[in-house]
Amino acid sequence: MAEKIRKAAVVGAGAMGHGIAELLAMNGIEVMMVDINDEILAKAKEKIKWSLDKFVEKRRIRPEDAQAAFARIATTTSYEQAAKDIDFAIEASPENMDMKRKVFSTLDSFAPFNAIIASNTSTLSITEMGKATKRPDKVAGMHFFNPPQLMALVEVIKGESTTQETITALAELAKKLGKTPVIVRKDVRGFIVNRVLGAVFNEAFWAYYRKEATKEEIDSSVKYTGGFPMGWFELADFVGLDIAYEVGKILYEAYGERFKPCTEVIEHLVKERKLGQKTSEGFYDWKTGRPRIPFNLLDVYDVDRSWAVAVNEAAWLMKDDAADPVDIDTGMKLGTYWPSGPCEYGDRTGLDAVLNKLKELHSKYNMEMYKPCPLLEEYAANGWTGKKAGRGFYK
Ligand SMILES: NC(=O)c1ccc[n+]([C@@H]2O[C@H](COP(=O)([O-])OP(=O)(O)OC[C@H]3O[C@@H](n4cnc5c(N)ncnc54)[C@H](O)[C@@H]3O)[C@@H](O)[C@H]2O)c1
Repeated sequence: MAEKIRKAAVVGAGAMGHGIAELLAMNGIEVMMVDINDEILAKAKEKIKWSLDKFVEKRRIRPEDAQAAFARIATTTSYEQAAKDIDFAIEASPENMDMKRKVFSTLDSFAPFNAIIASNTSTLSITEMGKATKRPDKVAGMHFFNPPQLMALVEVIKGESTTQETITALAELAKKLGKTPVIVRKDVRGFIVNRVLGAVFNEAFWAYYRKEATKEEIDSSVKYTGGFPMGWFELADFVGLDIAYEVGKILYEAYGERFKPCTEVIEHLVKERKLGQKTSEGFYDWKTGRPRIPFNLLDVYDVDRSWAVAVNEAAWLMKDDAADPVDIDTGMKLGTYWPSGPCEYGDRTGLDAVLNKLKELHSKYNMEMYKPCPLLEEYAANGWTGKKAGRGFYK
């Protein structure tokens, strides 16, 4: 099926859209990029040219292949022109449901009936977007990570009416683009990566709010004891505090008290437009580059707390029948470079130990985020405590 995808439309030529267009073109697919005006489209083409030149410079591709890829990308402000003979469209327009519904319904009216239409949304409902079309069976999420040319992961998300055929086609397409797809079987908010990340962010933000540790102490422990590539505050700054804040709200709306956000810690920074790396200030000062996380504070915050809530959320993803352990682990390792996936970690450490940690934290703080997922309790009751027992998340 992915072989049949020869012509694509990319709607929205911003940070994600131009990268996705480049990636498709590098893999032999003809691309029409659509945006609201020619100036934005011209800028997007400049960025693509720059990025292709970098690939050539680093000898990742040959100059003639870069030229051929660039020649495969055309631009238009007309949806009709963009969509009339495509096999596939992906929208990367702003994160707003009304806008996305309009984009989907317009694409639907012009695209051939067998074309698949995907969304790169980070948080919104695929099912809702499908409902704006007459082909909800061919609508799915295809969530690339930033920058899409370089990041290896793609979350493929099934809406309520999406067929398995569509999911298989998009997973194959992701592989053709050199990516590793993970499947999210249910249209759950946060999909895999943002949901697990949301849990560890909240845990750290609350610990900081309660003055149990400073942000430097938390980040030092996360980085140097936990082996994560960035501390949670550093990562939130890197992602953008406006985005972290919005995702936090969406997770709270979707899952309630388990995702109670620590508004006190982040909201004032968002209001002051201290959004992290992109504004040079957030939790940290980024004016002279990445913040230096002190090495000597590495044992103040107990990183097992991060792991405990991550493993718990992985269990919730499984309980919701949204994803398999291997996809959860792959998502966290490729989407955020975690040293281990939460399911692997849980199995290695012992799910009984993780459960005890959660119970200890729950009785200490009485917060829902520490309340063990019933699936973990069930596994422990069955003696499925992980590697040592021969069965945990994995067999
Ligand atoms: N930036 C990230 O790190 C990231 C990562 C993964 C997913 N996403 C998701 O990708 C999508 C796009 O995000 P982004 O960061 O690229 O945004 P962006 O603001 O950089 O780009 C959005 C583009 O859409 C264009 N646009 C606006 N209205 C349009 C319309 N009616 N038709 C066509 N184009 C229109 C804008 O002019 C802009 O060029 C969002 O859904 C976001 O949640 C973003």
